[in-house]
This record gives sequence, structure tokens and C-alpha cells, in this order.
Amino acid sequence: MLDQDFIIQNAKFANTIIEVLQEIDSTNLYLKKNLNCPRICFAEMQTKGRGRMGRAWHSPFGQNIYMSYAYHFKQDINELSGLSLVIAMAMLNAIKQIGIDAPIMLKWPNDGIYKGQKLMGNLIQMQGEAAIIGLGINVNMMECESDDITQDWTSLKKITGKEIDRNLLCVALIDNLNTSLQRFCHYGLADFKSQWQQLDYLYNQTIKLNDGEFSGIAKGINEQGNLLLELANGEIKAFAAGETSICK
Ligand code: BTN
Repeated sequence: MLDQDFIIQNAKFANTIIEVLQEIDSTNLYLKKNLNCPRICFAEMQTKGRGRMGRAWHSPFGQNIYMSYAYHFKQDINELSGLSLVIAMAMLNAIKQIGIDAPIMLKWPNDGIYKGQKLMGNLIQMQGEAAIIGLGINVNMMECESDDITQDWTSLKKITGKEIDRNLLCVALIDNLNTSLQRFCHYGLADFKSQWQQLDYLYNQTIKLNDGEFSGIAKGINEQGNLLLELANGEIKAFAAGETSICK
């Protein structure tokens, strides 16, 4: 079970409200309704977990991590364009910090992928000057009977064959998110670009954007964190948002 006292005692950053809820509609919605920055909540289960593009996020009790972080940025909203990439990198650093060293890659703009299967994602929603940063990681989930999940998925337990201590991962997430958010506020995405290049699942792959609206060869990201796509005519076009998939 998630242990609120353990997480509070072991997370390095003390000035943040941290709470563990048993059941909630969605941790992002909860922080929107109870806005206070900085504030973090975890839930054992969500009844209306949401992913990007309005999709449902499968959130069974006691198995995974559902976390939201309300964070106040001093920057203008259009300077936050690379934030979902930074969050995805911080999530992966936290996973590595607890000793999991699997070749997990990041798929623009925010997915964690292992052998083509989705492991985790993030959903950032702006509420006034606050960003509600929601993270979902499949941790100990071994099966899913619901049809909420529409793509191939995996979990840390499936990857490692071992039960993962979710409390340790929660502490590592808080520490890595705080460090990364501070770096992002000071130095911007530029400070993270080389790490992204090493983890870029789509790089040099022929991909489709938004179900075939555009297709081309993925060429990494620009300074704003936009996806660079080399189109058939050789033009390199930058995209700020969208869904990507590798052409088979
Ligand atoms: C995605 O890849 O589509 C993003 C998934 C984000 C899921 C998390 S779980 C905690 C937080 N609460 C939600 O309702 N969604 C995010």
C-alpha cells in the first residue's frame, strides 16, 4: 500500500503538500478543485483517470502510480512547450534511480515505451498560472480485463519480473520532478536536449502524425520541443502537438 508518512519523510523537498488518497475520480481533477502550489497527490485508484486526447487511463486499485503535481511557473505559458518531454525524462530517471535499468525509450511528446509497448504517460493541464502535471505509470499491473487500454501496454513488473516497491518510486518521482522542474525553470529545454536525443524512440523512424495527416521521417526536436518531421519533399516541418505512430 502507498504510505503517506513514508513518502513525506523520505522525499527531499519539504515545502510541498503531499497526500495519498484512496479513491478519487482523477488526481488532476482533485488538484484543480483544491488548487495550491506546490501540492502533490497520489491515489490508490482513479474512477475517471484521463489520458491525452480525452482517452481513459486505466487506474485499478493498489497496483500502479497515479500522481498529480500542481506547480506554479513564473514563465509565460508559451515558454512551457517542452514541459511534457522534461516530465517524461524525470519519470524515467526516477525509475532508473530505484534500480530498474531496462531500455525504456521516450516517444514524443510524453510516452514511456518498452519494446513497442506503453509503460507510462503524462498529462499537463493549465489552471490559471498553475500547471497540473499528471503522471501515470503501470507498475505492478499484470493483466487488464477492461477495454480502457486500446494499445499494447506493459508494466515495470512485467519488464523486470519483480514486484516493485511503489513507495520508493513515489519518493524518487518527487525528487526527480523537483530537480528537473528547477532546471527547466532556470535553463529551459536546452538543458535537456541531449538527454532527449539519447532516449528518442522515434528518431529516424518513418512515422505518421495524427493518423496519417502527415507522415515523414522523425528528426528529433527543436528548441521548443516541437517534433521535427522530414516530409517526402525534403522539407523539415515542426509540430507542436499531435499523436505519433511508427509506420510498420
Ligand atoms: C497519457 O499518456 O495519455 C497520459 C496519461 C496520464 C495519466 C495520469 S494518472 C494521474 C493523472 N490523473 C489523470 O486523470 N490522468 C493523469
